[in-house]
Amino acid sequence: YDTKTPLYKTGDQTSFAYTSAKDRWPVIITQGIDDVHRGIISSDDAETQKQGKQIVEGLAKLKYELQHDRQLTPLEDDGEPDIAGYNKELERLGNPNWFNVPWLYSECYLYRRISTLFKRSSKWTNYDIFARQKISTFKSSRPAVIELAAKYKELVTQIESGKSAQQTAEEKETADKILFMEMCEICLWGNATDLSLLTNLSYEDIQKLQGSEARKASEKNILVNDLEAAYMTLLAAKKAGKSERRVDIVLDNAGFELFVDLILAGYLLSAGLATNVVLHPKNIPWFVSDVIPADFPALLSALADPQAFYTSLSDDEKHAEQSPTPLSSKEADELTFLFQRWSGFHAEGQLTIRPNHFWTEGGSYWRLPGTAPELHNDLKESELVLFKGDLNYRKLTGDAMWDPATPFTTAIGPMGPGSGVRVLALRTCKADVVVGLPKGCDEELRKMEAGGGDSGCRKWAWSGKWAVVEFSDGKA
Ligand code: F6P
Ligand code: MG
Repeated sequence: YDTKTPLYKTGDQTSFAYTSAKDRWPVIITQGIDDVHRGIISSDDAETQKQGKQIVEGLAKLKYELQHDRQLTPLEDDGEPDIAGYNKELERLGNPNWFNVPWLYSECYLYRRISTLFKRSSKWTNYDIFARQKISTFKSSRPAVIELAAKYKELVTQIESGKSAQQTAEEKETADKILFMEMCEICLWGNATDLSLLTNLSYEDIQKLQGSEARKASEKNILVNDLEAAYMTLLAAKKAGKSERRVDIVLDNAGFELFVDLILAGYLLSAGLATNVVLHPKNIPWFVSDVIPADFPALLSALADPQAFYTSLSDDEKHAEQSPTPLSSKEADELTFLFQRWSGFHAEGQLTIRPNHFWTEGGSYWRLPGTAPELHNDLKESELVLFKGDLNYRKLTGDAMWDPATPFTTAIGPMGPGSGVRVLALRTCKADVVVGLPKGCDEELRKMEAGGGDSGCRKWAWSGKWAVVEFSDGKA
């Protein structure tokens, strides 16, 4: 089921794969080691400490093998059904070394291997080494969270008070379309701040990326924007009088991005553009900040008592000079409003979470129809499936070296025409692969400052500054 187009590989020095494997992954593993250390120190159970030390050894070994370009070793059995697939693929690839392996597979392997260390222990089975980072970056996105919560409350109250009823049907459609597009753009840029790239972004940079001014200024950075077509499919389903209209979101990152995804979900439900929203998280800690089921209660409990969340101090913050400013009562109200809405939708069965092993396998989504037919059939039921973020985009396109002018529908192979799945990718570019661009666009971007120039690198596509929003209607 795989694409025949050659894949990006870690050994290619002009690819972001190389920089990732050489500079970023060792940092990520080291941070993981630090985190487990903290867990060991704060535990007073001898067995937990012992197992924690074994995990640290396992992480250190992984880092050594990576930095010394050793072979990727078969994953140890941790009782999960996907291990066999990972190991079979390793064999098929000829037991490669770290710097001569397809980027997509090796990066998935990295997180899957980390996960085996925890799953094989009895005391750390469900431990998430990235949880601390996820929640603290959510905290630091406070200004944008508050701005959006206020906007959301205003919007939903307007919808519900029937203010829109005074509009003609046509006016309402136009307003809905604009709102839909804006919500999706919020959702898109919410992805610019994933934690795996945090190694080179400051908190200040992140805050800049999140405000509404920044978003407007970034509109020109969306190189392809198919949002209107996506909106039209939702509108058509609504007009056809379908009683059940589902939207799916294949999630990316926890924290601020999950927060904005829920804003979008809530908006779609309140505006009647969908009757149900299904969220697809990952099963294991993945690419640092990806959503796992436990991130939902973490986010919701922050919103249930926002004042406590924003004024309580984590261990790191206790050393800070200034204590955090409390929320105003209006701000606290707006956040609690969100919490109530989202809990309500969840209780009514309109907002659900649906994990699946497929999302953390080592291959691309070209394999989805063939290897996960039930998931495929499930997604066909949806009016629109949003794929958030960079990794999902790499998986959709097989992380292959496509000519950037290749149509999106071609590059997603079996998930494209004939799949019966309406795909919308919302992606800020943080990797080499990109498709669907007008001819000459890539060349122009390379000529811009930090675009890569003559280096042979598509550097402009690595930083999250540029984005593509691409749609495929799944029809034969
Ligand atoms: O390009 C950097 C990177 O960490 C990739 O390895 C990965 O595809 C991506 O960012 C993760 O970003 P996102 O959270 O948007 O999928
Ligand atoms: Mg991610």
